[in-house]
Amino acid sequence: MNEYSKFVSRLDAHLQAYSEVPLERWKKDSIRLVNGLAAEELRNLVDLEKRREFGAFFTNSDLADKILSNSKIQFGIEPIVYDPAVGAGNLLISVHKQISEKAISFSFWGTDLHQEFIDATTKRLLITDLLAKQKISSVSIKIADGLKDNDFYKQATHIVTNPPFNLIDCDEKVVWGKGKLSAAALFIHSVIRFTKPGTQIIAILPDVLRSGSRYEKWRAMVDENCNIQDITMHGQFDKFADIDVFSLILTKKENPKKTINGHIWTKKNKSKHVIADLFAVSVGNVVDNRDRKDGNLRPFIVSRGLPGWETVSKVPRERLFNGRSVKCPFVVIKRTSRMGDQHRAVATIINIADEVFVDNHLIVLQPKSKKLKDCKLLISKLKSIETDNWINEQIRCRHLTVKIIARLPI
Ligand SMILES: C[S@@+](CC[C@H](N)C(=O)[O-])C[C@H]1O[C@@H](n2cnc3c(N)ncnc32)[C@H](O)[C@@H]1O
Repeated sequence: MNEYSKFVSRLDAHLQAYSEVPLERWKKDSIRLVNGLAAEELRNLVDLEKRREFGAFFTNSDLADKILSNSKIQFGIEPIVYDPAVGAGNLLISVHKQISEKAISFSFWGTDLHQEFIDATTKRLLITDLLAKQKISSVSIKIADGLKDNDFYKQATHIVTNPPFNLIDCDEKVVWGKGKLSAAALFIHSVIRFTKPGTQIIAILPDVLRSGSRYEKWRAMVDENCNIQDITMHGQFDKFADIDVFSLILTKKENPKKTINGHIWTKKNKSKHVIADLFAVSVGNVVDNRDRKDGNLRPFIVSRGLPGWETVSKVPRERLFNGRSVKCPFVVIKRTSRMGDQHRAVATIINIADEVFVDNHLIVLQPKSKKLKDCKLLISKLKSIETDNWINEQIRCRHLTVKIIARLPI
């Protein structure tokens, strides 16, 4: 992450300016450095491939503040807060907002694999400290693998973490999974193994851990070792990372105990809509080699050659048909789909002036609002990993049906 040292130099320069510029101006400049800028600079300076390789996606301050202000979290008066995959320290900075002036003393510890992130966190916490009335009692941020045991785990009263979400090979055998596993699941496993009973754990995790059948045993392991205090779904992580996340608040139990409360994980998010709430879903009604070619002549949409994830405004084929035509704009999804495809529901927006006929190898989704904007929102949702995971869980190998698409959460 060498590229990120540019941001570290900027933090350095800002700290040096502390005694040189008027305090009010210094404070104003500090706000962005401790809020959104760390994540923005990460996106600007480090290319996406590299960020993906290490799962380096920093939590924005709004999401961090929302999660860390949950009333189920009790920091007490002398918390020791450890983030094992600390990045540029966004979660610790957010914890600071929650506890300063309430705690008598507090310590912030962090680990990460990258020196540039360690430096950024140390300097940003220094700026946070200079801005605050109450000083952080101790800060220790160092290079270490958060998946391995260390002293921080043993002494922490609280773990805050948004671990990497990429899939990795696990060095050790785990009873709840095999093959490539979510680094996030492995991180929570390590946190549970290495912390002492009573430690409160606050984590931001990919939704597949909450809802995927592949992580059922992982959920059972968490249930056995921890009391679950809260599970909240937050939807898309941020506008740059299209992955749904949830927050999990746990307290490690004194004695592990098998429990059967798997339902806690899958309680319905009442605010969530399914596609059928917002779109009329049907199958294209032309069976090309069966239906007679008479009636009206209109543009004819077929699956073959239709470009995925685009808006089509010219249709090369026409056909005579005396059945129902469809008004634009609308979305079509190719019905042919199987597990292992890069995307399960490949969609295209059709937006031409004419009404059109649609072949029965396509599923038609007409927005109840009649708005193009809703078609665009829908195809970005259909392209997401959550859609693929959800469809894979529901139907594995079969082709798409109206029923499946209608029930898809959006
Ligand atoms: C999703 S980011 C979150 C950073 C920060 N906690 C936040 O919320 O902004 C995950 C971080 O984990 C770090 N990381 C990846 N693998 C790690 C490991 N094995 N041990 C420690 N940190 C790791 C990455 O470098 C990255 O900074």
